[in-house]
Amino acid sequence: MTTAHPPPLTGATLRARWEEAAPWVAGLRDVIDERPAAQVPGWAQRRGWAEWLLGVDDGWLAQAEAQGAWALPAPPGAPPDLLDLWQALHRLSALPPLLAETPQAQAQRGVKARKRAQLAAFGQLAAPLAGRVHRVVDVGAGHGHLTRELAQALAVDGLGLEREVRFVEAAAGFAPANDGSVRFQALTLTADGPSPVQPQDLVVGLHACGALTDTLTEHAARAGAPALWVSCCLHKVPGETRAPRCCPAHVAAAALTLPRDRLGLANLTQGAPGVEASLPENLAARARRVGLWVLLRDRGEAVPEPGDAMRGLNRRLAHRPFAELAAAALAGRGLAAATPAELAAAEAEGARLFAAERRFTLARRPIGRLLEVFINLERAVWLMDRGYTAELGLAWPLAVSPRNVMGRAWPTE
Ligand SMILES: C[S@@+](CC[C@H](N)C(=O)[O-])C[C@H]1O[C@@H](n2cnc3c(N)ncnc32)[C@H](O)[C@@H]1O
Repeated sequence: MTTAHPPPLTGATLRARWEEAAPWVAGLRDVIDERPAAQVPGWAQRRGWAEWLLGVDDGWLAQAEAQGAWALPAPPGAPPDLLDLWQALHRLSALPPLLAETPQAQAQRGVKARKRAQLAAFGQLAAPLAGRVHRVVDVGAGHGHLTRELAQALAVDGLGLEREVRFVEAAAGFAPANDGSVRFQALTLTADGPSPVQPQDLVVGLHACGALTDTLTEHAARAGAPALWVSCCLHKVPGETRAPRCCPAHVAAAALTLPRDRLGLANLTQGAPGVEASLPENLAARARRVGLWVLLRDRGEAVPEPGDAMRGLNRRLAHRPFAELAAAALAGRGLAAATPAELAAAEAEGARLFAAERRFTLARRPIGRLLEVFINLERAVWLMDRGYTAELGLAWPLAVSPRNVMGRAWPTE
């Protein structure tokens, strides 16, 4: 049974949201640019948020991480401007679901249930474009599941483009969804490179990471073809920064030119469940990683940020006892084993720093979602400026995948 749901964001409303969101992104650059690490971030001090955030209790913090701080009554003493910011960011980032329900997905060899739900949603959301397309071109096709799904759903040919040859070989090894009219090609698609896209193709990308979604829209626009995308990993861009492809007149493009390593903020989503471990286990593992950073830093190793401590180590090691993680890291660097006292001190300091980092990250988390929505608004506006009708909404619930912002666009008749 389907229920009525709000229409996607489109036309003048979509453009107005982009124009409204842009000065917020620009005005929050200090918070975006300074990631909380081992010290109280300058922005938390300057904005008068540090003391309250550090005093937030674990129970409220966990709830706020899961449901969004804006959804909960805040503990006493909360800075009013921080509460207002959370509400504003929540409103600016809100998008309507594109489907009333996540569609039932058919079993498929080698495809996990959550991915199957994504494929089924793409199938339904591509259907309105079926009349105008003869082929699906899937960029960043990976193992080709989406290529096959859409070729079958729309009864058209499929071309999967993928830069990793081993994925292309794997994709070709799966049984084609229809009569062999689905093929895969090893190709690194670039914004200014040659394009295989034709006007009657539907250009799609499922978790087309970073610059690839920009490239997808570029190739669709060049051919005048419709496009359907869900992006991810905004930080995967070739240069040090991502410059806006279009910019509202009232905001400087420089303020919207975002450093690559800070775009990863968009991968933080409230309530994102751990895939391989429970939430408490994941939190404990992250505290151990910070403890490892303390240990290495105190040994004089060059590890600028806590995030650098695990370089070269299997991330699963952080789920082992701290002594085991430390032993592997020290041995890997040719350093002497740690004493029990050294281990205890580093682990305790790691737990303390991580507790503070979590609290400061809570303040930044909704900005991450704003960045993700904002960059997708920009992509939609960029296409609208090229004669497209564009829509933005949520392709599936967060539990299916937190990377769920979908753009759908086609040349306006
Ligand atoms: C996150 S994966 C998604 C794969 C697949 N669409 C899925 O949902 O399972 C992104 C894929 O895009 C590919 N990719 C990234 N940039 C590319 C480019 N410029 N040209 C072609 N493939 C690219 C990567 O190798 C990777 O397989």
